[in-house]
Amino acid sequence: MHRVLSGIQPSGDPHIGNYLGAWLRWVGEQVPGHFFCIVDQHAITVPYDPADLRQRTVDLATWLLAAGLDPEVCTLFVQSQVREHTELAWNLNCVATMGELARMTQFKEKSEGRESVSVGLFDYPVLQAADILLYQAEQVPIGADQRQHVELTRDLAARFNHRFGDTFTLPQPTFPAVGARVMDLQLVDKKMSKSLGPAGTLLLNDDEATTRKKLLRAVTDSGSQVRAEPDKPGVTNLLDLFAAVTGATVPELEDRYSGKGYGDFKGDLAEAVNGVLRPLRERHAELSDDPEAVTDILRLGATRAREVATTTMQTVRERLGFLR
Ligand code: TYM
Repeated sequence: MHRVLSGIQPSGDPHIGNYLGAWLRWVGEQVPGHFFCIVDQHAITVPYDPADLRQRTVDLATWLLAAGLDPEVCTLFVQSQVREHTELAWNLNCVATMGELARMTQFKEKSEGRESVSVGLFDYPVLQAADILLYQAEQVPIGADQRQHVELTRDLAARFNHRFGDTFTLPQPTFPAVGARVMDLQLVDKKMSKSLGPAGTLLLNDDEATTRKKLLRAVTDSGSQVRAEPDKPGVTNLLDLFAAVTGATVPELEDRYSGKGYGDFKGDLAEAVNGVLRPLRERHAELSDDPEAVTDILRLGATRAREVATTTMQTVRERLGFLR
């Protein structure tokens, strides 16, 4: 059994990129020793509304439960309810360098064009490293966009171990075979993201008609062949999406739609996506009736997470030379 930790921000609505890039494996492979964290402290690194954050945190947990995370098996918790995350982040701040943080592409993207950027946004990957290292995670199931942050986490862990003695497990990022980087349906050179416009993002909480409309209007390329080719990024993305939701391979799908137009292909894709999301949406609607039950699950999750986190922190404090 591998110890696993992964996380997701409660900012913006969850979308099919989150589901295919990360959740599908969180749900499919869960056993005790797998930790899933709603990272609300990462969400405050950019301007936000506190009431909105609180509501989104519960809603995201509701989606994760609807997707199949079983709190009897794995541990689902909220980052701010386990204080050791920020404590370890501070300690790792004294191991990380300004240079390596300045190289993070997510920081460059998120800070671009902003007049004022918080120190928290710059330091974001160090808090992420703390999330992972606290649980001695061996594997971190993520989408491709998070690779650089997990590589930094490995560097920080190795540096800490070298300087202060063996303390942290070096984590390995893991990616899905398909769906590691779902692209926006309109801006086909950008990854689908909570922060891009709604037309290109397939939200889990869209209704079926909206999902269908977004897919039928997805940008396709010139020509009419349903083929995955470098000069057809729009169609290639839709083929990958189709493969990820059905388990068919891209060559099988190319064969199936050979000689047919984009219309048929997109219509069938919409059916397939709605088919996969239907049970999640239904379950989410049911669970949303009882938000208290969800916050109870999160509280219990935090208690379990804290048991592991405090053990790691005892060692860290000892290694760093703090008084008992
Ligand atoms: P976040 O909240 O942006 O996304 C959560 C997960 O969804 C994946 N993902 C995607 N996968 C495929 N295609 C896409 N278009 C797409 N968009 C998002 C992400 O790769 C991620 O796996 N920094 C992290 C949150 C985090 C974390 C952690 C992750 C904080 N601490 C510790 C792992 C371990 C983030 O912003 O993910």
